[in-house]
Amino acid sequence: MTILRVESLIFGVEDLEAGMRYFEDWGLTRTASGAHGADFTLPSGQTILLRSAMDTVLPAAPDRSPTLRETVWGVSDAAALQRIGAGLGRDREVKSDANGLHTRDEAGFAIGFRVAAPAPQASTSAAPRMNRPFDPERRARPSRLGHVVFNAAQKDFEKLLAFYLERLDFRLTDRALDTGAFLRCRGTNDHHSLFFATRADRNSFNHAAFEVKNIDEIVLGGKYMKSRGWKPNTPLGRHILGSNVFWYFDSPCGGRTEYYSDMDQMNDDWKPRIWEKNPGFAMWMMEPDEAPPLKQG
Ligand SMILES: [Fe+2]
Repeated sequence: MTILRVESLIFGVEDLEAGMRYFEDWGLTRTASGAHGADFTLPSGQTILLRSAMDTVLPAAPDRSPTLRETVWGVSDAAALQRIGAGLGRDREVKSDANGLHTRDEAGFAIGFRVAAPAPQASTSAAPRMNRPFDPERRARPSRLGHVVFNAAQKDFEKLLAFYLERLDFRLTDRALDTGAFLRCRGTNDHHSLFFATRADRNSFNHAAFEVKNIDEIVLGGKYMKSRGWKPNTPLGRHILGSNVFWYFDSPCGGRTEYYSDMDQMNDDWKPRIWEKNPGFAMWMMEPDEAPPLKQG
């Protein structure tokens, strides 16, 4: 079984117009919209789907609205999809439809699986250069969706972790016993494609992270978001675990979105680190002159 990446996120939104504006300002391309909601497609082929929170077709979430209603993981091929369905079907209901398989994890979050549809991507390797053309848009255009993060209640935490590690073959990269666990699916070397943050008693969506080329694009994207009236949730900074540069914004579709770049890349030799105490949220952050320190409710 090979889970390659987050394939699609489906949000149940209260205000579709605000949600569309937010993700357009974020730098995503709207590929469909109408009575059903709105679809955004990244250059990687991954999608963000906005649907009405009232849509009864959407799975319920263990969280207040608006929020993420389903996380769909992209798998390598039809055989992998079939194996996942058979494996999970042993102890939970797994529904199958034209969009793949649908079930729930140990915290009640709706998860789906389908064969990944990666779009061919231009190389982003840093070639030697005489000059780098400035970006007349001065904003971000994320290339892909890198990770998704949930808050997980203490009572569900261990079984949730075991479910992803043992049943879905994720790998543990870092675990901070006081804050949470960073996992990566088999198809990526990214430090994490999934993070569970420990919470006393709440299961909820936390954030989705979109990769951009470099720190310049994060700054341009964040400044553009601010100019459009969206509220930063953190200042610009660099994480310690994962070491990616980040800037988070509050999303009207629930939770936050993160611009990130320059994340640690792991290999098969990596031994998971267990931290008694989290070494810290950030190595540095710019002055929090317009946003309080991260409150990941
Ligand atoms: Fe993140």
